[in-house]
Amino acid sequence: MEDDRETQKHSGGTLRLFVDHDKCQGHGRCYISAPALFDADEEGFAIVRPGGVDGPLEAAAQSAVLNCPQAAIRLEGEDSA
Ligand code: F3S
Repeated sequence: MEDDRETQKHSGGTLRLFVDHDKCQGHGRCYISAPALFDADEEGFAIVRPGGVDGPLEAAAQSAVLNCPQAAIRLEGEDSA
């Protein structure tokens, strides 16, 4: 079942990032390592830049998800059915 979701993500083409603002503590790893995908607000909390994630940005997005100490970042497939 999990494999189906994975396949859907990739065939969908575009992925979207989400930051859980209840979890984000402003560590900044995301916007420092992937400034094309994330920005910071005035207090240093992460903001997802508008637009989807595709092509070469996908690896950076996956890395941001894995490297957030608060597990505040999610990467999800966009349902374009
Ligand atoms: Fe927040 Fe995690 Fe980025 S704590 S600033 S989403 S690295």
